[in-house]
Amino acid sequence: MIYITTPIYYPNDRPHLGTAYTTVVADAVARYWRLKGEEVFFLTGTDEHGLKIARAAEENGTTPQEWVDQIVNRFYEAWELLDIANDDFIRTTEERHRTSVQKLLQAIYDAGDVYESRYEGPYCVGCEAYYTQDELIDGKCPIHERPAEIHSEDNYFFRLSAYGDRLLRHIEANPHFVTPETRRNEVVSFIQRGLDDISISRAQLTWGVPIPWDPSHVTYVWVDALINYISAAGYSEETSEGFDRRWPVWAHLVGKDIIRFHAIIWPAMLMSAGVPLPRQVASHGFLLVGGEKMSKSRANQILPEELTKTFGSDGYRYHFLRDVSFGPDGNFSWEGMVARYNADLANDLGNLANRVLNLAERFRGGTVPVVSDPDAPEEAALREAAAGALADLAGFEEFRTKQALDGVWRLFRAANAFVEATEPWHLAKDPEASERLDAVLNALLEALRVGAVLISPAMPKAAAELWRRLGLPGGPGDGPLEVTGRFGTFPATTVEKGDPLFPRLEA
Ligand code: ME8
Ligand code: MG
Repeated sequence: MIYITTPIYYPNDRPHLGTAYTTVVADAVARYWRLKGEEVFFLTGTDEHGLKIARAAEENGTTPQEWVDQIVNRFYEAWELLDIANDDFIRTTEERHRTSVQKLLQAIYDAGDVYESRYEGPYCVGCEAYYTQDELIDGKCPIHERPAEIHSEDNYFFRLSAYGDRLLRHIEANPHFVTPETRRNEVVSFIQRGLDDISISRAQLTWGVPIPWDPSHVTYVWVDALINYISAAGYSEETSEGFDRRWPVWAHLVGKDIIRFHAIIWPAMLMSAGVPLPRQVASHGFLLVGGEKMSKSRANQILPEELTKTFGSDGYRYHFLRDVSFGPDGNFSWEGMVARYNADLANDLGNLANRVLNLAERFRGGTVPVVSDPDAPEEAALREAAAGALADLAGFEEFRTKQALDGVWRLFRAANAFVEATEPWHLAKDPEASERLDAVLNALLEALRVGAVLISPAMPKAAAELWRRLGLPGGPGDGPLEVTGRFGTFPATTVEKGDPLFPRLEA
């Protein structure tokens, strides 16, 4: 079972290109594993407790529950728009989550890792986190660039400081636990400087999960949020069967802003409670607009629907998977997106599909026979490109989304070159070349078939449409993932040319 997660997002912010980035990558990777025949559990959701939500509800003259019930819809809509096929969606206001938070906190408490103390310090409501004075820049949060508030209250604390050595040993023994390496180094040196205990409750807030041993406090929103990953896996269910199948998670995908919560606090909580640790916390950089992080506080957010109108969900997904590497920061530009769409989708893939289906209709009435000599030497280049594309697709296993797609595009370019080299329109004029024309067309249809399968994690709609036009039954993800299909054995279906898959865009 491959269990994969995105962060659970704060629903106050509309889903924007940043939150959509993590979600699209997770979705493509989940689809890749399904294509490989793995059972997948892909989770996303919303983080609905905490001061930030409580204040927004108040400003809007509603209760927090009514507020989150309204705004969560934006996430359902955005993920539908982007063809996100999550298996579950968790909201931290659900009962299954409340019971799970209380069960985990009780386990940490029973392990002797909780004590009561007073805390006073700068707090950023945007981050929902305490800072130390020297982490602030001119008294402002380094991420939200807004003044921190001074909060002071009696809280329960978790003995995070006791877990530094165990965390370091775990990270050393499991080099893939935190990726990429830059983030692992950041986490290691942060732990080496010595960990402070963290406050896990709030006495002055009522919007949250009550602390099991003292219901006058609610759970600190970050502690609450992290636990979502086991709530959805079935941690508080009566039998442990479901949980044992899903947990430990294969990968948590997160942005670099929340790496410490996931790679330090979360595994320490799990260690304390005796729950196995995640296999991997994989983090990526920020999407920037004009060099600045896209965020609500900077009012430079771009919403997915502003782009899908022009590029469609496939064009949207392809651009971010192909052009943003998972790791460093990446800059978004409209011009870059148009250029990528025209070069790869309108030209390489769109033209190939158009030409091949057109040739099959024109010269064979849409039905190309299976040929007697599949894998003729001339077809070797296509066969090799297809095998290479399949090998490259495994880039998804390490979030190398560009690599996963590059191989498929080499196949499309090889197929376009094959059309140029074989000149089917000349073969069609030569009565002696009839069998050769069948072989050429059949190999090209096979290249499109393989291509449809391999693009399906990134572009599910286009893949399904191409599959349909090829006259094939079922969908591109149905069969086993192999491209040993010989070039010349494409079945004698009836194909349909249709309109351009990706109409060219004006720059
Ligand atoms: O932090 N570029 O929620 P959040 C790339 N609720 N990714 C971005 C981004 C950008 N400009 N902006 C946001 C929270 N993201 C907590 C998480 S998890 C137990 C709780 C993505 O709504 C990225 O994945 O602020 C980042 O880590 C996440 O959204 C933060 O979402
Ligand atoms: Mg945030």
